[in-house]
Amino acid sequence: MSVNIDWSALRKDFPILDQQVHGKPLVYLDNAATSQKPRAVIQALVHYYEHDNANVHRGIHELSNRATQAFEAARTRAAKFIHAKSADEIIFTRGTTESINLVAAAWGAKHLRPGDVILLTELEHHSNLVPWQLIAQKTGARLAFIPVTGDEGILDLSKLDALLTPQVKFLAMVHISNSMGTVNPVEEICARAKKLGIVTLVDGAQSAGHLPVDVQAIGCDFFALSGHKICGPTGIGLLWGRQEVLDTLPPYQGGGEMILSVGYHKTEFKQAPQRFEAGTPDISGPIGLHAAMDYLDAIGREKIWRHDQDLANYAYERLSALNNVRLFGPKHNRAGLVSFLLKDVHAHDVVTLADQAGVALRGGHHCTQPLMHKLGVESTARASFYFYNTRSEVDTFVEVVKEIQKFFAH
Ligand code: ALA
Repeated sequence: MSVNIDWSALRKDFPILDQQVHGKPLVYLDNAATSQKPRAVIQALVHYYEHDNANVHRGIHELSNRATQAFEAARTRAAKFIHAKSADEIIFTRGTTESINLVAAAWGAKHLRPGDVILLTELEHHSNLVPWQLIAQKTGARLAFIPVTGDEGILDLSKLDALLTPQVKFLAMVHISNSMGTVNPVEEICARAKKLGIVTLVDGAQSAGHLPVDVQAIGCDFFALSGHKICGPTGIGLLWGRQEVLDTLPPYQGGGEMILSVGYHKTEFKQAPQRFEAGTPDISGPIGLHAAMDYLDAIGREKIWRHDQDLANYAYERLSALNNVRLFGPKHNRAGLVSFLLKDVHAHDVVTLADQAGVALRGGHHCTQPLMHKLGVESTARASFYFYNTRSEVDTFVEVVKEIQKFFAH
């Protein structure tokens, strides 16, 4: 690695990493599930609760003003993080799942008609599939899928022209696949969809904290991310929506905060983003997220991306050198994770034995059950990296995999 950052030194910012698990130093390789939190984020939460805690937007007192200011500053920071035109395009949600449910429910209910098609990819996480199934059932729309090529998990774009029929009204796709590590060409796909007037959503759960994101350059209409995967707290995330598209959407939920005036029989709603934020929001969440975004951008997501890719390529290479390992995901331009199976060993056994050696992996269908079925497997084991991981941790992980192979060979 040549990017002049002492990645190991950054580990000191993460108190949780400095511990032993089952008597072995923790090697945390489950970052695609959730990232760890730097002290700066933990302190932002503590500071808020120790000094500024109050409800937002309603009070006239000092604490409420401070809380409101910090809450709205986080919105402005989030707009900068993904290069949105305006903070008004940022809706705080519980995370990617809620963001996509919001779009499916609000946009889908308003615009989808029987016979319309929602185009997805075969790589989607359940969070970008099940909400579309639900709205398809309600509206009479149907789902279609851009296929993947097999174990490499790359989208077969030669099929795209045929799939982009006049019936397609919405296209939703994952930016980086959580189970394969594929990086989808979202700019190209959005450009092709846009020419046909198709509205687009990009699921950025695995991308936003790992590479620079510019929603205007991507050219999508919606972008979703989760705070807990980018060093922020759990339970907070956001939906970005292009202003013109947000303006056409009805509310997702009703309640306080999102109204201009309410009568017993009729309500007038605020504009976006408040129209989509009913009730007292998570206030500490955006404040922690603000600190996380500052932290990541102080390092630089370009550099984080190169580091993550370096670790994933190294892990892929080392696992490829072993016998009886089936590797998933692309050989080139892989995001920071490696999914694999050992011959005759269940992925859960790999994860359980790795845990005994202090190595945290994930095993299962990774909320991509249809993709697993397409590949003819029930589950895979997965190591997913972040900037605080090191090559020596990858070495530890590979040695543990070798031990597991030996154990099951007897
Ligand atoms: N979607 C998360 C993962 O891939 C939970 O692990």
